[in-house]
Parts: sequence; C-alpha cells; structure tokens
Amino acid sequence: MTREDFAIERHLRGQTTTSARSSSGASCSRAALTMTSKAASLVDLERVHSGHGLAAHHGDVVLEYGDGAVVVTADEDRYIDLFAGAGRCIIGHGPGRFSEAVAAQANRLVVSRHTTAVAVGYVERLLSLVPSELDHVTFFSTGSEAVDAAVRLARAFTAREDVVVFERAFHGRTAGTSPLTHPVPWTRPHACTNVHRVGYPVGDKEGTTAENVLLEIRRHHEESGLGLAAIVIEPIQGTGGNRPPVPGFLATLSDLCTELGALMIADEIVTGFGRTGAMFVSPDEGLRADIITIGKGMGNGFPISGMLASSNTVGATSFSMPGALSSTFGGNPLAMAAAAATLDVIVGDGLAEAALTNGSAWLSELSLVLSDIPVVTSVHGRGLMIGVKLRIPPDSPRTRLLDRALLDQNLLVGVSGDMLRINPPLTITPEQASRATAALAAALASPGWAES
Ligand SMILES: Cc1ncc(COP(=O)(O)O)c(C=O)c1O
Repeated sequence: MTREDFAIERHLRGQTTTSARSSSGASCSRAALTMTSKAASLVDLERVHSGHGLAAHHGDVVLEYGDGAVVVTADEDRYIDLFAGAGRCIIGHGPGRFSEAVAAQANRLVVSRHTTAVAVGYVERLLSLVPSELDHVTFFSTGSEAVDAAVRLARAFTAREDVVVFERAFHGRTAGTSPLTHPVPWTRPHACTNVHRVGYPVGDKEGTTAENVLLEIRRHHEESGLGLAAIVIEPIQGTGGNRPPVPGFLATLSDLCTELGALMIADEIVTGFGRTGAMFVSPDEGLRADIITIGKGMGNGFPISGMLASSNTVGATSFSMPGALSSTFGGNPLAMAAAAATLDVIVGDGLAEAALTNGSAWLSELSLVLSDIPVVTSVHGRGLMIGVKLRIPPDSPRTRLLDRALLDQNLLVGVSGDMLRINPPLTITPEQASRATAALAAALASPGWAES
C-alpha cells in the first residue's frame, strides 16, 4: 500500500465509522461484530472472507431489494442504480414477469440434457434477432466461457493462432481470456502468447487514429508466422469506460478482417440486448461479425451467456462433435426461462427503442450539465451505455473517494479508472435520469476527492 492509499483508507474509515451506514474498517474482529450494526458486520465479513471484498471496496452498502432502477438497503436508504451490476440487470430490479417466469420454471424443471420447449423456443427467438448467417448458438454460464469458446473456434476454423485485441478491452478473467483483457496487475503478461494488442481509436488527441490501427493490424498479420485467426472487439468498450470508437471504424475493421481471412469476434456481452438502442450494436455499426458473444443482460442477472456463430463455421471444426462445446449449466431450462422472460420484456416493452430515445436525451443533458465541472473531460456513449471521462490518472487511488462521494449522493455508478460507467436498467425513467444528473454533478464537484 502506498502512502496515498493508506491515507485514503484512513480517510474512508474515519468517515464511515461516524456515518449512519457505518463500517468498522478494514479488518474483522469479534468486537467489531458486536459493536456495529448488522449491515456493517456483513461488510466487514465480506471484506475479509470473500473475493477480497470487492463489494466492500466500493462502499459500505448492504442491499436488501430492488425496485426498477432503484435499490434499497435494510435501513430503507434508496440508491439510483446507474451501474446495474455492469449492465446485468437490464430490465430492472424487483418482482414482475421475470421473477414469475423463473419461479414457474424452477417449479417445473431445472436441469435437462434432453430437448425442452423452453430452450428451443428461446433459440428460435434469439436467432431471429441476429444476422441470418449466425444460425447457431451455444450456451454457457459466464462471459469468459463464451469468449474463450469463440477464440478456440476461430483458431480451429482458420488453423491460425494469432488474435488481435484492443487497448483497454475487457474479455474475461480466466486463463484463456485474461490475456485478451487489457493488462492489469492480476493478469500475467508473459501468458499472453499469440495475442497482439493494438490501440482503440476514440478520436481524442492523445490516442491513436483509425488509420494507424488498421495499418498496425495489417503489418502484424504480414509479419506473423502463425497468421491472424481473429480480431476480438467490444463494439463499444464497457469496462474501458463505455467508449465507442470513432464513427466508421467498425465497418473498415470488418473489411480488413475479411480481406485478411480472419474471423471477426464481436464481444457484445455488455452491448447486447438493447442497451445501445439496437438489439445488437455490431450490425447497426457495420461490423460484420462471424461470431458474437453474449451474456450479462441476457438473463437479467441470471448467469447465462452464449456464443452465436454460423453452423458452417462450427460444422467445419471438431466443435461440431456432440458435447465439444457443452458446459454444465449452459442452456439448462431454468436459464432458458430467465433469458426468455428477459427477452419478452425487452421486446414487448420496446426497451431498446426507449434506450435510444432516453439515452440520447440524457447524454445531451449530461454533456451540458457536467461540462462546467473542471474534472470532467468528456461525456460519450450510445443508448443507455454512457461514459464520463475524468481528468485524473487512470490508476488514481483517489477514485475510492469518488466512489464515496457518489454513494453520499445515493448513486451507484461504475468507477473504472478515469471513467465513470453509466449503464442503468433500460427501464430507468427520464425523471430518475434527471435526478441522477444533478446528483452526479454534485458528487463530481464535491471538494475533497479530486484535488490534494
Ligand atoms: C465485454 C466483456 N466480455 C467478457 C466479460 C467476461 O464475463 P464474465 O465476467 O461473465 O466471465 C465481461 C465481463 O465484464 C465483459 O464486460
């Protein structure tokens, strides 16, 4: 821990022990358990015993239930959920058609390796929403599994090895996918064999241009002895800050990929299912994907993911053998019911269209209101996938103080390096969005987190 980290930790501890939502600090002691509220004890226990306390790292909030785009604590503190579990909760929190459908399926049949109507019905509906060449889907439980399968399929199909990925990309944390994710301390750079990372052109002064990126991919392909198997891209980067690339880039990237004989893998794990205003953003932006990976919002929080490809691609490889792409929980009837209910609500309630209309109005409002705040560099995004770039180093430990300032404004927001990620449930109302704008402005302008 650096001196600055230490000072921040002390500051946060000092603040939270005196606040109503108090936490006793970084370590869990018996005394802490008896002296503090039940909520604070839960935060302490998680910090010590689970996943290095990721949730606790982001503040001492213990949630009880949700209602649309709002989540509520045991003390009835209400937060507008602008993060929605990185976009997982796409149709909103709380009971409704989704929970009824999941409960009904749980009562009927949870697991099956045989055909079920709920699974086949979902496959048919899903395939009707993607470009017709993508006529084959395989289900998994996590996004990493889907991306991992996509890369294995591309390597098998092309009989090549190299994969191009982009700076600040996120594709997973498994042994197969962490080499594709932008290097952070927990990835092992030396394990990134046959992965070539290029810039992601967003049109800012410091970054690269689309032309340079395309040239670099071409040069890499020509110099690589192993040949380019795939280009993997999030059509709009999620963890990288909800950032779209410069207009036209995805279409020219597609042309280059076709010319080089590589497969284009569009990782739509965050962008899919209406978040950007289109059911899937790749076709809308001219990215002709050979494989699309899906997850997150697909099951409104139920763990389900998938890989869409063409049956020709799958059929030309050993992955056509039964079981070659199977996964223990992938596509079980319960997961299919969750995904089908989510899709029913997205399509039935026109949530993609709402994301486009409400998202563009909100983007304009945010750009206007936040432009006066010195720490804000820019606001960008598409639909209800909006990012705010901050004038701070991407690895600044001070973002923990910003996390606190946002919670104090009753907002849950993704803070990702020098970016804020705003990706609420698509059911967020314009009134909630406007309240969130004012609260965001107050948090960003609050003294004490950005300076010193
Ligand atoms: C674009 C993208 N791809 C893949 C993944 C990995 O998904 P999972 O965490 O479900 O393995 C993520 C997770 O955040 C993601 O954002």
